[in-house]
Amino acid sequence: MLARIRHKHYIILLVSSCVLIYLIYNTLKYDIVTSDRSVVLVTGAAGLVGSHLCEELLKRNYIVYGLDNLSTGQIRNINWLNSLRDFYFVNRDVTDKWEDGFTRLDEIYHMASPASPKAYFKDPIGTYRANTIGTESMIELAGRHSARLLFASSSEVYGDPLTHPQTEIYWGNVNPYGPRACYDESKRMGETLCFIAQQLYGTEIRIARIFNTFGPRMHPEDGRVISNFIMNGIKGDDIFIYGDGMKTRSFMYISDLVDGLIRLMASNNSSPINLGNPYEEHNVLKVAKIIQELLAERGIARTRINYIQALQDDPTKRKPDISKAEELLDWRPTVSFEDGLRKTIDYFIELYK
Ligand SMILES: NC(=O)c1ccc[n+]([C@@H]2O[C@H](COP(=O)([O-])OP(=O)(O)OC[C@H]3O[C@@H](n4cnc5c(N)ncnc54)[C@H](O)[C@@H]3O)[C@@H](O)[C@H]2O)c1
Ligand SMILES: *[C@@H]1O[C@H](CO)[C@@H](O)[C@H](O)[C@H]1NC(C)=O
Ligand SMILES: *[C@@H]1O[C@H](CO)[C@@H](O)[C@H](O)[C@H]1NC(C)=O
Repeated sequence: MLARIRHKHYIILLVSSCVLIYLIYNTLKYDIVTSDRSVVLVTGAAGLVGSHLCEELLKRNYIVYGLDNLSTGQIRNINWLNSLRDFYFVNRDVTDKWEDGFTRLDEIYHMASPASPKAYFKDPIGTYRANTIGTESMIELAGRHSARLLFASSSEVYGDPLTHPQTEIYWGNVNPYGPRACYDESKRMGETLCFIAQQLYGTEIRIARIFNTFGPRMHPEDGRVISNFIMNGIKGDDIFIYGDGMKTRSFMYISDLVDGLIRLMASNNSSPINLGNPYEEHNVLKVAKIIQELLAERGIARTRINYIQALQDDPTKRKPDISKAEELLDWRPTVSFEDGLRKTIDYFIELYK
């Protein structure tokens, strides 16, 4: 009787020590994995910029959390990342209160916001909330984890600019009472919230004033010049130009922007900085013609160009001065407009095959 009880005790002791050793091993293993690697949160991860940013950060050995509520973004942009180790998709609204479970968080890229005029005309409330309440919520998150926060601002903070090209010290010419204000003014407010957080709480903030960016994974229906023209061609429609086609834009390819954002995050510069491509300024008619050519090279018969009425408050001209980024980040765009367009056109053709 006595011997049998002892025997049972030994087994329990053995089993529980095994369990204990296993548990200790596991926590150690977890600590080893997480403690020496940076953890980053990218909001707006399913969008154009967010998805390319996540991809590049994974290549650079970060553990990446991608947050998105899939409003203007597309799940196909990040579906394939989900199968990779070290990527975690967080499906939520950036403006919701969040009892986050991070044990470590080093960097936050706050990119979540409707970004094309078509998207923010349709959702002005969602737009100003993402850039104001969403930014406030990311400031709080950064504060809880002593993380560095990069806010995606926009060249739209310059409004319809009265100086060319725009440097960061230009305060802008924004109409607060018009259809674009929900975007322009909330980007300005987002910058202000970052400034306040830095002054009051010492939050480490970075502000990127992003100019027109394009590339694969743009939403085909976002209504922006490039996706519009390419989709017009692919669908066999005319290429529709708003206005007379003489407004100029400068266009940056997505990989150049991602490189600039990562450099900015790593830098010591907390004041706003322009990221754009001043070398590739074209009027809209020229853009239509280049796209027409590239489509024709790919067997999409010559599409015709047509004109419709211009949008309200659409700036006539905008071009970044990037001296500050060149000096402080040693950054400048390297991808030509046509090379970027080829990749983008091939992406859309593949999608609609
Ligand atoms: N692409 C450009 O030319 C450009 C220019 C200037 C600034 N920006 C800024 O860069 C950021 C990214 O732009 P993009 O071109 O990738 O746009 P996008 O629309 O492709 O991506 C934005 C993403 O944010 C998500 N999102 C929007 N509101 C959200 C919310 N409340 N909660 C969670 N997710 C939300 C959308 O679903 C989408 O996936 C935006 O902040 C935009 O304002 C972009
Ligand atoms: C997602 O984001 C958009 C734009 O910021 C917002 O209007 C919408 O309410 C959000 N939807 C959900 C379901 O969270
Ligand atoms: C940022 O500042 C720190 C301390 O002042 C310095 O060690 C570091 O090299 C700087 N980083 C860059 C990218 O300039």
